[in-house]
Amino acid sequence: MKSVVIEQPGELVVAERPLPQPAAGEVRVKVQFASICGSDVHIWHGHNPFAKYPRVIGHEFFGLIDAVGDDVAASRIGERVAVDPVVSCGHCYPCSIGRPNVCTALQVIGVHRDGGFSEYAVAPAKNAFRLPDSVPDKLASMVEPFTIAANITAFLKPQPNDVALIYGAGPMGLTAIQVLKGVYGVEQVLVVDRLPERLALAQENGADQVFNNSEIPLAAQLEGLQPTLIIDAACHPSILAEAAALASPAARIGLLGFSGEPCSITQQSLTSKELSLFTSRLNSNRFPQVIEWIEQGQIQPEKLVTHYFPLADVEQAMTLFEKDPRTCCKVILQMG
Ligand code: NAI
Ligand code: MN
Ligand code: ZN
Repeated sequence: MKSVVIEQPGELVVAERPLPQPAAGEVRVKVQFASICGSDVHIWHGHNPFAKYPRVIGHEFFGLIDAVGDDVAASRIGERVAVDPVVSCGHCYPCSIGRPNVCTALQVIGVHRDGGFSEYAVAPAKNAFRLPDSVPDKLASMVEPFTIAANITAFLKPQPNDVALIYGAGPMGLTAIQVLKGVYGVEQVLVVDRLPERLALAQENGADQVFNNSEIPLAAQLEGLQPTLIIDAACHPSILAEAAALASPAARIGLLGFSGEPCSITQQSLTSKELSLFTSRLNSNRFPQVIEWIEQGQIQPEKLVTHYFPLADVEQAMTLFEKDPRTCCKVILQMG
């Protein structure tokens, strides 16, 4: 089979690899579509602290089950599935309280073990979620990015009367907009980014008001409006302090970033307004919920997708995705 392998930082190849056999409790998926994420690019460039090399990348993928290991019903062969990349032990403290995404032995498919930019991939059977026909093949790899928004909003508990502010109109910000509007019915969703093209995309994805902070700081543009719910989907370390300063008393702030640089913030700026701070990593069992949202028409994954490329053109696809955020949002690889 053909697989996209990062042999070592900086070295991406499409390699011929042996077909993997599913172990007990696993399924093998004949991958049809897989979407590119910033973290795939980071592994390529050696900027992901969790990755081990060589690695088949890709954690957002969809395909058909074509083989099963022991203890998995053969009737699952042929199922159309989206694969949850979070592989957990099932018995540590976070697993025991329903948070397998921060399992003490966490393994992420496409990061810690081989992933979905490949003609075939193996995964635990319980990670392979059957899709209804209403989720089309071409969009099925988009379930995973929406689970990030599902996870952070589960902490933030958005209400219709929230004034929500989202930093960043990349894939993460856009999925958050759609979930706040389409699922939670938040009336006011504000979005800030530095790129006008990204802000236009934010509007297409349901933002009520957009702000460009490339020249004028956001604070000078909000005219005293105080957000009650803030999501940092831009993830620069300077954003937390600004968010705390702009937030309404009693607001909730959600963080998605993985920067290793310190954030400088005072206790006073958080405690005087009794702000709540939540962080969110990947997703805890959110695939069924996102699949239902797509089925019910509450979210529209197609609004994020700008390009499709065949597997053979993966390097071109990842380069475009990385270098051209003005014309690119989600880029999807077709395997077949
Ligand atoms: P992206 O790079 O496509 O989007 C970020 C957007 O933020 C860009 O449009 C950029 O112009 C904008 N931006 C950057 N600095 C800004 C600033 N100071 N003010 C306003 N806008 C600014 O990235 P993507 O894929 O949307 O991911 C966003 C972040 O989320 C990344 O840092 C990524 O590491 C993180 N992430 C976290 C996950 C988690 O589970 N916690 C999962 C996936 C991504
Ligand atoms: Mn991703
Ligand atoms: Zn665990």
